[in-house]
Amino acid sequence: MTDTTSTGADFVVAANRLPVDLERLPDGTQQWKSSPGGLVAALEPFLRSRRGAWVGWPGVPDVEVEPITDGDMTLHPVPLSSAELTDYYEGFANATLWPLYHDVVAPPMFHRHWWNAYVKINVRFAAATAKVASEGATVWVQDYQLQLVPQMLRGLRPDLRIGFFLHIPFPPVELFMQLPWRAELVHGLLGADLVGFQLPGGAQNFLILARRLTGMLATKSAVGMGTKPGQVTTGDRTVRVGAFPISIDSTALDKCARSRPIRQRAAEIRKELGNPATIVLGVDRLDYTKGIDVRLRALGELYAENRISAHDVVMVQLATPSRERVEHYRRMRNHIEQAVSRINGEFGRVGHPTVHYLHQSMPRNELTALFVAADVMLVTPVRDGMNLVAKEYVACRHDLSGTLVLSEFAGAAAELTSAFLVNPHDLDGIKNAIEAAITADPAEGRRRMRALRRQVMTHDVQRWARSFLDALGAS
Ligand code: ADP
Ligand code: G6P
Repeated sequence: MTDTTSTGADFVVAANRLPVDLERLPDGTQQWKSSPGGLVAALEPFLRSRRGAWVGWPGVPDVEVEPITDGDMTLHPVPLSSAELTDYYEGFANATLWPLYHDVVAPPMFHRHWWNAYVKINVRFAAATAKVASEGATVWVQDYQLQLVPQMLRGLRPDLRIGFFLHIPFPPVELFMQLPWRAELVHGLLGADLVGFQLPGGAQNFLILARRLTGMLATKSAVGMGTKPGQVTTGDRTVRVGAFPISIDSTALDKCARSRPIRQRAAEIRKELGNPATIVLGVDRLDYTKGIDVRLRALGELYAENRISAHDVVMVQLATPSRERVEHYRRMRNHIEQAVSRINGEFGRVGHPTVHYLHQSMPRNELTALFVAADVMLVTPVRDGMNLVAKEYVACRHDLSGTLVLSEFAGAAAELTSAFLVNPHDLDGIKNAIEAAITADPAEGRRRMRALRRQVMTHDVQRWARSFLDALGAS
């Protein structure tokens, strides 16, 4: 077993967040709870099986926490002050990079003091990671918050094998070129031995930018999936670049969804909702990229046009609170909550709202029961790196019932081609797809779900991690 405290860890994940968040309770005590988001959902089960170390922020500012042993994992907290949180996390990571990388669906903001904070915090993460890793260890740096860490870490510890994976989309060249610090970011990523993206398009964009911005020689411009990545040569080093679509722990979720307690809870949920003919479900972080507004608008119009009835079709929308101090997020929340009350005001009855909206994070089992209860799953982001929710729903449908409406602009659409695919900018198209998903002939529904499950059950997170680490030469 890896001893990560005295000799260092052989396998280290560095991510902005630890898999758990410290929560301060009103009585002054504190406890740990699961962190939000797909990165943690995907990587946590994998890292437990690898017995590694995880370097990350504990989720609240201004705390110094000692390393924690959590089962076979060791967690190494990296502190952030309130001011650093504002400038590095809410600012550069989530108000500059996040919108820029998601097709500028909100205008990215460029501030030099945010950039300075981003550099400073990346230095801190690189130093913390260098301290934790054993001689010759493998370090896997995660996501857009830490794009400078690979190069910084290489400077500190040339003995390490360094991988980087971007969970969100990597933008088209013209959009990335807006960034005043574009060359610095590309240089930072090129510190890795392997840079991984969700889709071949992202890898391709990065290869073009690496060539354009650093003058480095791209020895191979074709990008392959998994084992045949493209590459960039930088000095005497070769950096490999490829696409590795992330996934979920499909077998564990399938097993949980089949269990009696979850099936019973799913039946109870249906009853609590008033035994509607159709339960439509949305599950997202409350993020403006997720297209929650788009699906509510489509549903509202379908009710108004009597194409579906509020008596028969009930929607549940879960929205995990997210990045609540960032302006775009605040505005989006108001907008969505108004849309929910408008629909309920118009089509609900006493004791029977048509949209059940919960701005809460759910326990994992309750969420699984909701996936089992739901007849139609709506995943309609305007842009998403992958979207694990779509795969989670499929993993929960062992009886082949249920239909998935999925945005073409989610990374998952490349694999889940048997879903009801929609363009999230085409409102009529979404309405037609939702109606088709609700009224689908059961045999047709089963045919689609069988194909979706074939993909999701065979391409799980273990396979994703293995293919990345194989390409890194570190498995
Ligand atoms: P993102 O990483 O952008 O949040 P993903 O769909 O890839 O999007 O991953 C979201 C993860 O968070 C999934 O594992 C999903 O089940 C989980 N999740 C989303 N909403 C909730 C919620 N309200 N309660 C609990 N878990 C949630
Ligand atoms: C997405 C990002 C992750 C991030 C997660 C939750 O999945 O790719 O890097 O951790 O959202 O967002 P948060 O800002 O709360 O960490």
